[in-house]
Amino acid sequence: GLEQDRKSLELKKFRERFDNLDLNEEAKKRVDEEMQRYAMLDEQSPELQVVHQYLDCIASLPWKHYSRDRLGLTRAERILNQDHYGMQKVKNRILEFIGVSKLKKSTKGAILCFVGPPGVGKTSLGRSVARALGREFYRFSVGGLTDESELKGHRRTYIGAMPGRFIQALKSVKTGNPVILLDELDKMGQSYRGDPLSVLLEVLDPEQNREFMDHYLDIQYDLSNVLFIATANVLDTIPPALKDRLEIIPLSGYINEEKIQIGTKYLIPKVLDESGLKQEQFRL
Ligand SMILES: Nc1ncnc2c1ncn2[C@@H]1O[C@H](COP(=O)(O)OP(=O)(O)OP(=O)(O)O)[C@@H](O)[C@H]1O
Ligand SMILES: [Mg+2]
Repeated sequence: GLEQDRKSLELKKFRERFDNLDLNEEAKKRVDEEMQRYAMLDEQSPELQVVHQYLDCIASLPWKHYSRDRLGLTRAERILNQDHYGMQKVKNRILEFIGVSKLKKSTKGAILCFVGPPGVGKTSLGRSVARALGREFYRFSVGGLTDESELKGHRRTYIGAMPGRFIQALKSVKTGNPVILLDELDKMGQSYRGDPLSVLLEVLDPEQNREFMDHYLDIQYDLSNVLFIATANVLDTIPPALKDRLEIIPLSGYINEEKIQIGTKYLIPKVLDESGLKQEQFRL
């Protein structure tokens, strides 16, 4: 009847979406199982929506779809300079990183961590690295973490279950190799449910993150092409096991002359642009 038509239409739409994706074998098998379950379920069953949401999650992930890296140093340098004043040492280190990635044909390895006082540009540098590489960018604050399921998701049996941050990030950027900025790494506390630290260690480990397992997705997902960058205000609250994985890049505060340059050359033009004002409509 009508119900049957609606369900078969949904299944047809899912099938088309899955056909356009490069799913791994495990995912293909799971998709087939869940599509069959969907077909069998009664239209009134509350399970129907749960299965629909799960299939939709698998279909929304980029799987083996990657953006192409821009590894040209001249372009990268231009972009870094466009976004930030000064910071020559830091920019050189980033350019070195891009240069090495070009030689290795991979950005795997070092996890850069920008460390410095508030407002010196740590977060915005992360965004700038993504722009220089031509990658998508996703930021989230590790400082706001309350428990492990925020990173790894809830099992599907849990009511209102959702995937964790990493899977959500990939759904949102739609490429499998974004820059993911782990902001405020030093603010991750101890007293949380589960063990977010061990999840982070797993995710940042190139040997393990190829087989990342989110509790909701419940299928292995390859995170090894993600470029992780971290930021922190201080180093002493970062657990040693985590610190070992990081390549610390210190950012120092600015002297007044630099602050004036940053204000007039970068921040004011940006604000004017965002508010649609022209240079001559503004006076300091
Ligand atoms: N050298 C710079 N050139 C241009 N803009 C800068 C520079 N340094 C900082 N900014 C700008 O200052 C603002 C604050 O920077 P940002 O939020 O990245 O600081 P942060 O180091 O992440 O601070 P927090 O520790 O508080 O998170 C941003 O708009 C950033 O673009
Ligand atoms: Mg910041």
